Amino acid sequence: MAPATPKPEILAAFEAAKGFMPVREGLALYEAAAGAGSLGLPLLEVGTYCGRSTILLADAAREAGVAAITVDHHRGSEEQQPGWEYHDPSVVDPEVGLMDTLPTFRRTLHKAGLEDRVIAIVGRSPQVAAAWGGKLGFVFIDGGHTDEHAAGDYEGWAPHVAEGGTLAIHDVFPDPADGGQAPYRIYLRALASGAFEEVSVTDSLRILRRTAPGI
Ligand SMILES: C[S@@+](CC[C@H](N)C(=O)[O-])C[C@H]1O[C@@H](n2cnc3c(N)ncnc32)[C@H](O)[C@@H]1O
Repeated sequence: MAPATPKPEILAAFEAAKGFMPVREGLALYEAAAGAGSLGLPLLEVGTYCGRSTILLADAAREAGVAAITVDHHRGSEEQQPGWEYHDPSVVDPEVGLMDTLPTFRRTLHKAGLEDRVIAIVGRSPQVAAAWGGKLGFVFIDGGHTDEHAAGDYEGWAPHVAEGGTLAIHDVFPDPADGGQAPYRIYLRALASGAFEEVSVTDSLRILRRTAPGI
């Protein structure tokens, strides 16, 4: 069967959006999200930023008739703060002097015609995860890249992935020369738990499926 791909207008909106998800990985994310939609459970992302990957999740969820949920405090990760490599001064709120990606995210979804398809939660990932009650068909971890934040995302959200559901992790770099190791470490933890097995690798994106209870 041919892999699920986003419609041309969705792909164009994704490519036009501000953010950090490359196209190759985005297409692999879409395919995994579309497949996971068949479980009939919500698809959830940690790390909305300006909504680039959210567009793909939202469209996959719409096709499957399930909810798309995205979680972010919208104050940016460590590496996005002023003076750091990934800082973008256009997403600073001049009144409070802090990053605020929520307005750009809302414009992104509006332009893509997906405003009604996404439930956006503004909050810290571990706190939202602790308040979350149900199972999820798909969890995409693309939040903070320190050990504290990546571990918090994994420990908070992996237990909510339903059997047969998908855990996707972005920015997994086995070689430290290519990038930070925190996402790689939670990927290793997921495999070592015995609850997840690897489905695919696309550049730094890892797609895992829950095959057993556990974490
Ligand atoms: C790498 S960006 C996400 C990129 C996005 N998925 C894209 O496609 O462009 C990481 C995001 O995670 C958010 N973040 C970092 N730590 C977080 C936490 N503990 N709780 C909620 N959001 C967090 C940041 O505010 C930032 O917007």
